[in-house]
Amino acid sequence: MKVLIHETRETATGCAAALIADRLASEPDVVLGLATGGTMEAVYADLIARHRDSGISFARAQSFNLDEYIGLSPDHPCSYWTYMRDKFFDQVDFAPGHTHLPRGDAPDPEAEAARYEAAIVAAGDIGLQLLGLGANGHIGFNEPTSSLSSLTRIKTLTRSTRAANARYFASDDDVPRLAITMGIGTIMRAQDIVLLAFGEAKAKVVAQMIEGPVTAACPASILQMHRKVTVVLDEAAASALALRDYYELVHPRVVEPAS
Ligand code: PGA
Repeated sequence: MKVLIHETRETATGCAAALIADRLASEPDVVLGLATGGTMEAVYADLIARHRDSGISFARAQSFNLDEYIGLSPDHPCSYWTYMRDKFFDQVDFAPGHTHLPRGDAPDPEAEAARYEAAIVAAGDIGLQLLGLGANGHIGFNEPTSSLSSLTRIKTLTRSTRAANARYFASDDDVPRLAITMGIGTIMRAQDIVLLAFGEAKAKVVAQMIEGPVTAACPASILQMHRKVTVVLDEAAASALALRDYYELVHPRVVEPAS
């Protein structure tokens, strides 16, 4: 794992956006794996600015999002389809039909999960996968004790995940209980993975992911078995790492330029 510790969230976000922009430049038809959540919002804002100001283009790329709530249609205000359209897709230049999320309102969610997995395989699997990190160690909606070789399927959300995401809904009870999520095996087939985690609230799980045992109790710990993972952290999220000095020796901390 490459562990990059940044002084601020802003430089960390810029670092993640630059990794995506560089990949698009070298491989315009890259298949991107995309994520939702609070951490990603600034990454998409940065990519939109690069599209507008520096001309980076998604016109030949494709994207597959990690997950979607079961029961929410693509036009539901709290669906991840809506999140992605509002925060990213409507402001960049993906070709029509080149952005993919599972359909949360599919009549047969199991069949929809199988269809989504097959579509990822048919696209040649993910080239660059963007990941957030749940406070409980989830990646996608692969909650603790998920099979570490799982494929896209239905998962029941934990109480803590539903509580963490309640801010997007009118009430706690409105948060769906089930989601379709790429599996851990699906994610592990990605060529490159970039995981972002910011803030003190993620410090403990970041340390478990990087330095703890590989265990389904912390699904993100499986990333220790992947060949090309870059973990992008701010100071606070890195604060519980035992080997922090070593990571900073290998990749010196990015310090904000004095203004
Ligand atoms: P967050 O979510 O970016 O809103 O913290 C991360 C996740 O649950 O994957």
